Amino acid sequence: MKLIFLGPPGAGKGTMAGRTKDLLDIPHVSTGALFRENIATQTPLGLAIKETMDQGNLVTDEITVALVKNRLDRPDAATGFILDGFPRTIPQAVALSEIRELDHVINLSCPPEKLVQRLTGRRQCQVCGRIFHIKFMPPKVDGKCDDDGTELSIRDDDKLEAVKNRLKVYADSTRPLVTWYKDHGLLRIVDASKAPDGVFEAIKDVIGY
Ligand code: AP5
Repeated sequence: MKLIFLGPPGAGKGTMAGRTKDLLDIPHVSTGALFRENIATQTPLGLAIKETMDQGNLVTDEITVALVKNRLDRPDAATGFILDGFPRTIPQAVALSEIRELDHVINLSCPPEKLVQRLTGRRQCQVCGRIFHIKFMPPKVDGKCDDDGTELSIRDDDKLEAVKNRLKVYADSTRPLVTWYKDHGLLRIVDASKAPDGVFEAIKDVIGY
């Protein structure tokens, strides 16, 4: 199955893509995670994009499309994948449509006040990538990953100023994709303001599981 998880920052794309990946056994391709890996390992790409990401602005379409094409060319993505955080602009969506057909574009909708609360309380494991929230999905031991005990960290772009900018960038550049995918007959809307289990059930309904 070929899926896109669309939605504003903090809607739960990474959380729900992680669960769906386990259900379908297909790769979860997160452009944000791929960029953060490059930053953490200080590759030339990582050094070039760090400031852009910390401020909550978008990396260029040229760089992002090349990264995704390269990832989707790997054999594990031949028959299915979940794209999380891509596409984020109309040119990215057009580029994707030229290389892959899609089954569903799942739009996770959530009101802005919840998004801010979710992002500013997010904590993430740097080793396995598992996502927690200090209030809504707390780890069993405060500040430690349930899976490997690693110290949880706060993303640089989850500071309030960057969060506000990310929501504006979403409204300007990414929200138009909702209409674009609706016009292409691929859009499925899921209410992501509910508790995580309820959101996941709604996603399973959409994909027929
Ligand atoms: P990216 O990593 O994609 O960030 P984002 O889209 O801003 O999305 P987030 O990861 O912040 O949120 P999410 O929707 O995945 O929510 P999550 O599941 O973590 O991109 C980061 C940056 O990379 C961009 O700003 C840009 O610079 C660059 N970039 C990436 N892709 C790009 C592209 N295509 N083009 C150009 N640049 C690109 O959940 C958030 C919190 O809420 C967590 O704490 C979680 O535990 C909690 N939570 C989740 N679901 C629920 C729920 N149902 N109820 C309560 N809490 C919940």
